[in-house]
Amino acid sequence: MTTDDKFETHEHDVLIIGAGGAGLRAAIEASSMGVSVGLVCKSLLGKAHTVMAEGGVAAALGNVEPKDGWKVHFRDTMKGGRYLNQWRMAQLHAMEAPDRVNELEEWGALFDRTADGRILQRNFGGHKYPRLAHVGDRTGLEMIRTLQQHGIHLGMSVYMECTVTRLLGDDNRVSGAFGYWRETGKFVIFKARTVVLATGGIGRAFKINSNSWECTGDGQALAYLLGAELMDCEFMQFHPTGMVWPPSVRGTLITEGVRGEGGTLRNKDGKRIMFDYIPELYAKDTAPTEEEADRWLEESAKGTGKSRRTPDLLPRDIVARAIHSEVKAGRGSPHGGVFLDIHSRRSAADIKRKLPAMYHQFKELGDVDITRESMEVGPTAHYTMGGIRVDPETQETRVKGLFAAGECAAGMHGANRLGDNSLSDLLVFGRIAGHHAAKLAKATSQKSVDAGQIEACEREALAPFEREEGRNPFQVREDLMNQMQKYVGIMRNEGDLQAGVVELERLAADAGKCAVSGNRHFNAGWHETVDLRNLLVVSEAMARAALVRKESRGAHAREDFPDQDKGHWSQVNLVVRKGSAGMEVEQVPLPPLPDEIKQVLEEE
Ligand code: FUM
Repeated sequence: MTTDDKFETHEHDVLIIGAGGAGLRAAIEASSMGVSVGLVCKSLLGKAHTVMAEGGVAAALGNVEPKDGWKVHFRDTMKGGRYLNQWRMAQLHAMEAPDRVNELEEWGALFDRTADGRILQRNFGGHKYPRLAHVGDRTGLEMIRTLQQHGIHLGMSVYMECTVTRLLGDDNRVSGAFGYWRETGKFVIFKARTVVLATGGIGRAFKINSNSWECTGDGQALAYLLGAELMDCEFMQFHPTGMVWPPSVRGTLITEGVRGEGGTLRNKDGKRIMFDYIPELYAKDTAPTEEEADRWLEESAKGTGKSRRTPDLLPRDIVARAIHSEVKAGRGSPHGGVFLDIHSRRSAADIKRKLPAMYHQFKELGDVDITRESMEVGPTAHYTMGGIRVDPETQETRVKGLFAAGECAAGMHGANRLGDNSLSDLLVFGRIAGHHAAKLAKATSQKSVDAGQIEACEREALAPFEREEGRNPFQVREDLMNQMQKYVGIMRNEGDLQAGVVELERLAADAGKCAVSGNRHFNAGWHETVDLRNLLVVSEAMARAALVRKESRGAHAREDFPDQDKGHWSQVNLVVRKGSAGMEVEQVPLPPLPDEIKQVLEEE
């Protein structure tokens, strides 16, 4: 009997795994190039972490500030990433984002408008000018809706509620994927000439996070296990403003759009905190006096002045650490955060119009009326800058035919991502990945699928059912989230990171022995074992890379190396790969900057 007889099998030119913004955009591009596209998602189509980028999509349209342009956006992105970004990705992103946003509008996205009918743009952290095209505070949702509606008419096949457990092929060439239907537990094989990974992030490795259940580092782990490389794994973004109360919703995102609309952060004494945390790097363009900042916010609320950035809109790494420091110093709010106040800046009507989701979120989850009361907020694990190492021009990994885009890919954001560069990232690089995956698929034949490999995938997937005893996978996950929060969190040091690595090794041993009972029909414990393996791969990569980088830069902060290094560490990315004796971390020099790019960076 052949594997095709034994297992349900589908064949496509391009297989896309993950159906958030990057996956959908890649699928649209590949389909429009006339190849057959399969789009696999672990949950329902449209249910993606993309919706958690609420405040806008960054693109230098220049609608609110005509001085904006790709060069300014590029400079802001490199500066926000502390110059560890792959410069070519940051350049492509800044140049192409406006086209991607305009195209989204042509496909039906309903952005908020300026008085003269153009796409309205708001301020966000680290962006020099108001640059965020938005739909109230539901931008990611509108983007997904638009891409989905546009995409499904292009003839792609969508496979929902399907978990991929392994990529097929070898470290030279990908040939498809092996997975199972979450509902029935039956196995399924996808044969493909090329594969695009667009599975998003790894926030669910942390106890306090803004992510939904799907974000378990699947693409990163699948790529690593096949032989691709990971990069920049030490950089985990803690969004400054997650809910801290009630405990059941701790970590739920509060959009940076609140501060973009004039929200200010205060400690328990009512003091504006961010004026005490302006670093040298941002002193020049973000250092008004409190009185000036108040006047700017007042004018912008009345529509009589330009919308300008106050220190509350410093990049996320800086704001998150400032909140952490205030709480540690005993100046926090009752539930361990600080206060975010929009009600004294904006009218109730404005708040309900510009931030409707935030209004409802607090009313329904916390019984707080943000038109009259302050929110309690604190850092929440939100986004990983690290991920699969890709070629900046094509998004291909070192494994032929394997591409990655969006949050699961590395390089674009360096050490810290600017708010809502994520939505533009997934549009720009989703398109590029889809284009090159389709182009390569047209030029190559299907690599044959190895029957022995399929059997190994089946054995691996069924192993938890064969064990009589073993730890409960949910307990191991709980343990993992606690250890990551404790040892690999917002502030790190050598001792903690070393303890973290030891804990992760212990948990990996436990995870490898987890037992599940019952049958394969919607077996949540079984699903958990697959997620655990992936989470452990990316968690180990993060802890090991964080141990190696002996400095503080962007989202990677070390108490024992508090300064940003001007020498060696400013010149290298950390690349993680599978070696013969386990995970290896290599220091790889940054690609050299061409003269014309140096000039753009110096123009400021
Ligand atoms: O704050 C937010 O709306 C989140 C945006 C993002 O992560 O890019």
